[in-house]
Amino acid sequence: MSHILLVTSSPRGSEGLSTRYAHLLATQLAAQRPGTTLTVRDLAATPLNHIGEAYVVGRSTPPDARTVAQAEAVRLAEELVAELVEADTVVIGSAMINFGPPSSLKAWFDHVVWPGVTFRYADNSVEGLLKGKKVYLVTAAGGHFSEGPLAAWDHQSGYLKHLLGFIGLTDIEHLRVEGTAHGPEATQLALASADKALQSLLKQAA
Ligand SMILES: Cc1cc2nc3c(=O)[nH]c(=O)nc-3n(C[C@H](O)[C@H](O)[C@H](O)COP(=O)(O)O)c2cc1C
Repeated sequence: MSHILLVTSSPRGSEGLSTRYAHLLATQLAAQRPGTTLTVRDLAATPLNHIGEAYVVGRSTPPDARTVAQAEAVRLAEELVAELVEADTVVIGSAMINFGPPSSLKAWFDHVVWPGVTFRYADNSVEGLLKGKKVYLVTAAGGHFSEGPLAAWDHQSGYLKHLLGFIGLTDIEHLRVEGTAHGPEATQLALASADKALQSLLKQAA
């Protein structure tokens, strides 16, 4: 049985294109695989705390020696990691905010990138511990960053792919919705291109 984890983070609510396409992808992948379980983690509707001292100190403190605040901070991170571990497919929606991902998604990564749990240092190198999962990264941006003069300003895609790869999630498909800040015609083109990419990914996965 397949298990899909859908993580969304657009702060634009129902207008969010990264959320729309990530949702379409996750639900249509699920429809292709009868019996799939879909877990949704909407980081905009239910934001995580930013990590703080309770989490950082708590995760290197033995469970029975943690304060209440430390235990709660670590419990949340464990829950988020468990959702990831359980999934064979992860769909992530990320809105570009000031050339990077939303801070809500950064907070999610700050919880799940965990030494000894999702990655480890070994033989002078780093090993990601989450293996054999498929990731679909859906990014939405007002500008056009996949090529051209603004490509170097995309601090979202490379950063997210780096973090995913760091914890072992290297099998990544990237769907971009981009250029929507350039008027209705550009938006139509962006949506048509995203629709095409969506269908192609679904076909590939079938
Ligand atoms: C607060 C804010 C900051 C943004 N910063 C950028 C930016 O740095 N570069 C860009 O190309 N678009 C930027 N945009 C436009 C969004 O990336 C665009 O609306 C995109 O579709 C957002 O993803 P979403 O549709 O999933 O919400 C910004 C939008 C907001 C609301």
